[in-house]
Amino acid sequence: MLKGKHIILGITGSIAAYKAAYLIRGLVKRGAEVQVVITPAGKEFITPLTLATLSSHPVISEFFSNRDGTWNSHVDLGLWADAMLIAPATASTIGKMANGIADNMLVTTYLSCKAPVFVAPAMDLDMFAHPTTRRNLERLRSFGNRIIEPAEGELASHLVGKGRMEEPDRIIEVLSDFFETRKDLAGKKVLITAGPTYERLDPVRFIGNYSSGKMGFALAEVCAERGAEVTLVAGPVALGISNPAIRRIDVESAEEMYQAAREAFPGSDAAILCAAVADYRPEQVAERKIKREEKGEMTLRLVPNQDIAASLGAMKREGQILVGFALETDDGVSHAESKLRRKNLDFIVLNSLRDPGAGFRCDTNKIAILDNAGTRTSFPLKSKREVASDIVDRLVTCLR
Ligand code: PMT
Repeated sequence: MLKGKHIILGITGSIAAYKAAYLIRGLVKRGAEVQVVITPAGKEFITPLTLATLSSHPVISEFFSNRDGTWNSHVDLGLWADAMLIAPATASTIGKMANGIADNMLVTTYLSCKAPVFVAPAMDLDMFAHPTTRRNLERLRSFGNRIIEPAEGELASHLVGKGRMEEPDRIIEVLSDFFETRKDLAGKKVLITAGPTYERLDPVRFIGNYSSGKMGFALAEVCAERGAEVTLVAGPVALGISNPAIRRIDVESAEEMYQAAREAFPGSDAAILCAAVADYRPEQVAERKIKREEKGEMTLRLVPNQDIAASLGAMKREGQILVGFALETDDGVSHAESKLRRKNLDFIVLNSLRDPGAGFRCDTNKIAILDNAGTRTSFPLKSKREVASDIVDRLVTCLR
């Protein structure tokens, strides 16, 4: 799948830079053309001569050549690429990319790049776990960049933990999968709900939940990449979308989500309801900030919200596919089966807060898919993107 693809390989100053040699060999062997862009620190770890020999292209590092004044155009490079891969990506380069600090050829090329960008971080475990790095990676994700999570293992510091750059073979597999993507949702319209809902109490407070939107946004990205026209109804989340095939409608409350979903559903071939919708809202919304001094003890009266899934289930026409989620803490399977029937769903995705790394906020999830034929397919813990692919595989089967 990589035959003829133009790949910019960005290399930064990490001990994992030696793996770039294997990466180039693997990419070239699969027919890709590789152009290396390296940071000054990267050159301390691996020589341009090695990289130029393996890639059959001079390595680019500076904005211009001191020898003859030749200008290296980061804009042309950005346009030439079918993909940009930054491997290894240090905390420093990730920070510069997240904040637009274009003080070297690699980051300027990144900023000019129209093609999809893959980032394979490599650093010590504490650096990787630091909130700054987490925030910067989250920002890159929100720009639509794909993060190839580092593996766990022994690090250059001899500490053991998460931070080792993923192995070259696996990185090449991720790129191949990307280019191989089947367009098996071409011509289909998919409605997706994602994120939490906020139910207003007064101008400064609301009832909400911990949903980050990551699972629903991953579903939207995967559906769009596989050819669908996607309507994404999103609750309040801090995520971005880059695929032009995704029409995003931002809402705040369950009622707004209900209205937007009901409007989009009749024109859709399928709906995936991943949002964590508040089941209740305050009966009354105060116009002014509620003051403790005035209220003293307070009882909140809540009224039920519309059940979006059940309402779409009742509207569903022949051929439309309706997929729900069940987020459970106890008796997951029986609760999920009951929701599947009650809401007239075609299948339901069960995730449990009891499974480490599953559910709200994290980048991974562990699911089981239950359908009306009574089958249950369990999957191991995977990235939310991979989970989204598994769900979309099942959706495609149902649409057939
Ligand atoms: O956003 P992330 O941080 O990535 O987290 C992902 C997730 C945990 C939110 C997601 O994987 C998930 O489980 N979403 C559904 C959460 C939920 O509200 O489940 P539920 O069991 O309460 O609802 C069952 C189904 O009915 C869901 O499809 C839900 O969208 C839908 N529902 C619920 C209530 C309501 N009023 N209207 C609905 O449509």
